[in-house]
Amino acid sequence: MTKKRGTKYVVKKGSAYWPNKEMKAIANMTDPKIYTKAAKDPVKFWEELAKVGLTWESLWSPKNGYVEKLPYFEWFKGGKINFSVNCIDRHLDRGDQTALIWVPEPTNEDVIKLTYAELYDKVNRFANVLKENEIKKGDVVSIYLPMIPEALIAMLACTRIGAIHSVVFSAFSADALNARIKDGKAKILITSDGYYRKGKPEPLLDKAKKAAKKTTIKKIIVVDRIGKKVRGSMFLDFHTELELAESYCKPEVMNSEDIMFILYTSGTTGKPKGVMHDTGGYAIQAYQTCKWNFDLHKEDIMWCTADIGWITGHTYAFYGPLLVGATTLIYEGGPNYPNPGRWWKIIEDHKVNVFYTAPTAIRMFIKTPQSWIKKHDLSTLKILGTVGEPIDKESWLWYFNSIGGGRCPIIDTWWQTETGGTLINTLPGIGPFVPTVSGKSFPGLKHVIVDDKGKEMPKGKKGLLAGVSPFAPGMLHGVFNNHKKYVDTYWKKFKTMYDTSDGAYLSNGLFRITGRTDDVMKVAGHRLSTAEVEDAFHDNSLISEVAVVPMPDKLKGQVPIAFIVLKKGSPSKKLESKLRKYIDIKIGPTARPKRIYFVNDLPKTRSGKIMRRILKALLINEEPKGLMTLINPESVDKIKEVILSNEK
Ligand code: PRX
Repeated sequence: MTKKRGTKYVVKKGSAYWPNKEMKAIANMTDPKIYTKAAKDPVKFWEELAKVGLTWESLWSPKNGYVEKLPYFEWFKGGKINFSVNCIDRHLDRGDQTALIWVPEPTNEDVIKLTYAELYDKVNRFANVLKENEIKKGDVVSIYLPMIPEALIAMLACTRIGAIHSVVFSAFSADALNARIKDGKAKILITSDGYYRKGKPEPLLDKAKKAAKKTTIKKIIVVDRIGKKVRGSMFLDFHTELELAESYCKPEVMNSEDIMFILYTSGTTGKPKGVMHDTGGYAIQAYQTCKWNFDLHKEDIMWCTADIGWITGHTYAFYGPLLVGATTLIYEGGPNYPNPGRWWKIIEDHKVNVFYTAPTAIRMFIKTPQSWIKKHDLSTLKILGTVGEPIDKESWLWYFNSIGGGRCPIIDTWWQTETGGTLINTLPGIGPFVPTVSGKSFPGLKHVIVDDKGKEMPKGKKGLLAGVSPFAPGMLHGVFNNHKKYVDTYWKKFKTMYDTSDGAYLSNGLFRITGRTDDVMKVAGHRLSTAEVEDAFHDNSLISEVAVVPMPDKLKGQVPIAFIVLKKGSPSKKLESKLRKYIDIKIGPTARPKRIYFVNDLPKTRSGKIMRRILKALLINEEPKGLMTLINPESVDKIKEVILSNEK
């Protein structure tokens, strides 16, 4: 429920904001005791939520609410459910309600709205298209689509027949897609001929075709978005197939713990891992966090700006709002196309109530002439969310005042691809909303701050953030085809606690997240590993050695910087730009190093390990420590010179 435009939902007490009576009157959850109540018996708590919140074919047996045999654990084991039924069928009594609002980038094109009834029809038909193409329960389907309605239709169609979707970010390269197709042995690839970005059609099909070569892909289903002619027996036209297909597809009854999707994410090695999510556990977490974090009601319109190539797009641009029966808005294009007012005009035009974005976007808009924002009426907003990277105080306050008009709570949600849904944040009906602080573990969950050995840190001291049993229902069910990686990444360090790889500390009992403690970078909120970029460079015959390190960046949070020792050729601006483009081809532009420094040697220990820590210090103009352990300490001054001469 959203009150009339411009309602103020917060009140300031000291340096924090709290929900006022207007917020408490509408919020789905306002009871501060929910945390202690849930902590008494978290399994029972989640079981109750799942029974009330979701539609089950049949419930799990009472003793299987949570089965833990670490490093694996399962929720609602034996419970039967279909995910698409929960997103669509059960809302058909309100079939005329808009499920999806799609805003294309070109301003002369029409916005598309799909009601729940229309979405139901398309998802059923497309599920039949998949079946006709021999896709069955448990098969992996690769989806390489931009932010267009067909992405939602394709993903939900997979869940209707129990196929596992594996979505690959459309800005990723053919090589990145190829590796993911091969890992999942997908038989079908769903893509588009392109999409619109910054005023131009951006082709996608050539990358898709290249990626599908020498893989298990038999057919490529193509959405006509930019009007390119597609020929060949391997290709099917998305909409032609949809129209020809039967209009009803019986939903496949799935076990709660069956895998629903894979999403590849970066870790500390060169190869991204396929994080697997199940059906029932993921569904309840997506549903409940939408209801309580974003106070989402059926009549609300939520806009999460994340791309479906990332977990935030899966859970909060698509699935969460639909599970609740609300309306989700998605936008195809660039945030400032055709002008920096575009996002804010979308909020005004479509009367968005809940807006969820990343700190990088906020920092970008702080730098924009404010008149672009001021001229739009943002008074329908009720809740603002942030995700993906720590938010600094200045950005928090700007977001609060300039976008939220000083009226709306900011929900700073901490979570990961692996966790499926948010785990730590403040609830809008409970508060407090404190700049830079995420909040408490969601009711029924527990996190602790520990040292390297898993011992709890004294209050207020910085340490490692770890999850405690029972683990969140939405959390991963392993790494696709790689048990060892799953164990090594998440369970090796603490054995009985989930290793988040994030640093954090408690501030007045609330979690403040300080960022990754491993070699994972967050570039404009996008997750990338330094090793992945290094591996890509290693494939280049000009390069002898390379080290990639993140450098703090005012706009993007972090950016990759590469230090390269050449095997052939000589350093030049031209070569730098060629090598940056090389990364575009190998991974995608998100991974493109902001700078490349050509050096003669990299600082190494006696055992040959490259000391990236020293390179990081040099980049931020700090005196590097521990030079005694280096076999080549003289390399450090030389690298310093290279950095300085490039600054001139
Ligand atoms: O370092 C944390 C950061 O993003 C990482 C997870 O990235 P990814 O799997 O791409 O998922 C991003 C969206 C859920 C975390 O390990 N992170 C996420 N949310 C926050 C955050 N850092 C600080 N504050 C947050 N709210």
